[in-house]
Amino acid sequence: MENLEKELTQAINFVKNSTNFNASTGVILGSGLGFFAKTIKIEQEIPYSQIPNFPKSTVVGHSGKFILGEVEGKKIVAMSGRNHFYEGYKIKQVVFGLKVMASLGIKTLIVTNAAGGLNPRFQAGDLMVIDDHINLTFTNPLIGKNDKNEGVRFPDLSEPYNKNLIELAEKTALEIGIPIKKGVYVGLKGPTYETVSEVKMLQILEGDAVGMSTVPEVIVSVHLGIKVLGISCITNLATGISNHKLSHEEVSKTANNVSENFSKLISKIIRNV
Ligand code: HPA
Repeated sequence: MENLEKELTQAINFVKNSTNFNASTGVILGSGLGFFAKTIKIEQEIPYSQIPNFPKSTVVGHSGKFILGEVEGKKIVAMSGRNHFYEGYKIKQVVFGLKVMASLGIKTLIVTNAAGGLNPRFQAGDLMVIDDHINLTFTNPLIGKNDKNEGVRFPDLSEPYNKNLIELAEKTALEIGIPIKKGVYVGLKGPTYETVSEVKMLQILEGDAVGMSTVPEVIVSVHLGIKVLGISCITNLATGISNHKLSHEEVSKTANNVSENFSKLISKIIRNV
C-alpha cells in the first residue's frame, strides 16, 4: 500500500509540473459519453500513458486522458476514460485518476456513467440524476491507513450526492427541455451483467439503476470534501426487464445517441455550479 501512495505522489507531482491549470470542477466521462469532450475549449491534454504509474484502461470506448479547459467560462478538468474494478485493478488503483484530478483543486465532481435501468418506469436513453447509492462492490477504496489530511477515518455518507447540485441538475434539465429521472444507483463489481434474479433483488433493494463504476470515486470524493453530482445514462433496461441479451455494443450505442443531450445538460450545469 505504501508503494501505491508513493506512486500516486509521483503521478500528482508529474501532473502539477506539467501544468499551472487549476480547475474548479472535475468531470468523469462514462462509457460512450466522450462527446462532452467536444464542448470543451481545450487548453491542454495529458494522456494517462504519460503519467507515471497511471493504471492503463483496457475498455473499448475509453480513450484515456485528462482534458483541461473551459466550459461555459468555467475551468474544468475532464477524465476521458476511467479505471474499473473489473479490469483487475486494486480498489485504490480504481480511484487513482480521481485523486490525481483532485490535486488540481476541484471543489465539485460531476461523475457520469452508463447504467442499466432497474426502475420499470425507465427507458433506454433516459438520464438519471443519482440521489443515493448502494455499494454492492463488497469493497471500499478507503480500506487501509487513513490519511487525516484527506479526511476522517469514518466518513458520513448521509448525503454523498450534494442536494443543491441535484436541485441544480433538475432545474437545468427542465430549463433546457431535457427530461431527467432521479434515483438510486447500485454499484456492482461486474464485469458480467446481472442475472434475472439479481435484478429482482436489486429492485427489492429499491435500486433504480445498476452499473459497474462510480461508487468508489464518489466515496473518495466525499472523503476529500469534494461535492458530488452523479448522472447516469440509462443505456438499457436491466436483465429480465429487457427482452433481449445485453451487450457492450448496445450500451455504447445508446450512450452515443444521448451523448449530445447529455453534454448540453452537463455544460449548462457547469455554468451554474
Ligand atoms: N448492468 C450493469 N452495468 C451496466 C448495465 C447493466 O445493465 N448497463 C450499463 N452498465
